[in-house]
Amino acid sequence: MGEKWVLMKTAQTPTNIAVIKYWGKRDETLILPVNDSISVTLDPAHLCTTTTVAVSPAFQQDRMWLNGKEISLSGGRYQNCLREIRKRAREVEDKKKGIKIEKEDWEKLHLHIASYNNFPTAAGLASSAAGFACLVFALAKLMNVEEDESQLSAIARQGSGSACRSLFGGFVKWIMGKEEDGSDSLAVQLVDEKHWDDLFIIIAVVSSRQKETSSTSGMRESVETSLLLQHRAKEVVPKRTLQMEEAIENRDFASFAKLTCADSNQFHAVCLDTSPPIFYMNDTSHRIISHVEKWNRSEGSPQVAYTFDAGPNAVLIARDRKAAAQLLKRLLFSFPPNFDTDLDSYIIGDKTILKEAG
Ligand code: ADP
Ligand code: DP6
Ligand code: CO
Repeated sequence: MGEKWVLMKTAQTPTNIAVIKYWGKRDETLILPVNDSISVTLDPAHLCTTTTVAVSPAFQQDRMWLNGKEISLSGGRYQNCLREIRKRAREVEDKKKGIKIEKEDWEKLHLHIASYNNFPTAAGLASSAAGFACLVFALAKLMNVEEDESQLSAIARQGSGSACRSLFGGFVKWIMGKEEDGSDSLAVQLVDEKHWDDLFIIIAVVSSRQKETSSTSGMRESVETSLLLQHRAKEVVPKRTLQMEEAIENRDFASFAKLTCADSNQFHAVCLDTSPPIFYMNDTSHRIISHVEKWNRSEGSPQVAYTFDAGPNAVLIARDRKAAAQLLKRLLFSFPPNFDTDLDSYIIGDKTILKEAG
């Protein structure tokens, strides 16, 4: 190996929004959840991470830049992902450039990583999900790793739990698993992005500011103090997951909307049941919920499902293009962006919102 070369790979990974939420870990280091969860992967055109990973004998240490600013890789999560992926690295040869990296070289070579989110970071739109999925995927490509998406998802999981679900498009389930070493806690695709093509997503960015309580510390406090979380994990989610899988399989929007809204509301109820209570939604979020509930009731059948992650931003899933157009009209009238700083902006999904990762 000469000293003058650099080898690079770039990947793009969309974010995902849970319709059955992950909230609570049974193992903090391995990131093992207390319940299964289900999500929908979003259109990468609007919400995605782009990550370039580079390797060169000239690099003195592993370094990473996030949205143009250098961040520390010393946290356990980055270290765990890098270690797990390096373990699986294989020989790489680029004949054109005259580069050959042996399997063992990967332990000695250092990486430079540059990542960029095209949407707000740490604001409750799952930047950690797109971010860690993209990091693991890009490294796997660079290092010629053979593992399939589910196996890679178990590595991305160790960066951020929700990241394991971003390795696939469509609807994805994170199976909580039973093993202590986490080997069976991974994501599987339920249906691909073509299965339910009618759905249309509008995201109301109520605030793009960084949240006060990160998902990681919020769920830790909930596990320690909320009795509702125990009940939810043991009694509610197992049944709800089965019902959700059935609704998705049958493209049954009425059931899908009912389950999605109920699960978002229960997740935020768990946050309120935490001591001290965590408030991710704000007054605008609550008004959006009331508006959608009223409209759905007046239509006789649900037109739109709402769900909120750990932040005030509303993810609105409309049953089809017509419902989405009506929803947007209503939103722009009742919640005009930037009017009185109640709402920042809207991100509007394409008709084919569900695209493939990678
Ligand atoms: P969010 O709701 O946006 O997922 P979290 O609190 O779960 O917020 O996670 C935010 C953290 O995720 C960031 O502080 C950073 O450590 C990590 N993160 C975000 N984007 C990326 C990225 N593109 N690459 C790697 N890590 C990222
Ligand atoms: C509300 O995956 O961000 O978005 O595993 O600690 O990194 P860590 O947390 P994270 O939590 C996501 C919580 C959620 C629900 C979900 O995505 O399922
Ligand atoms: Co997150």
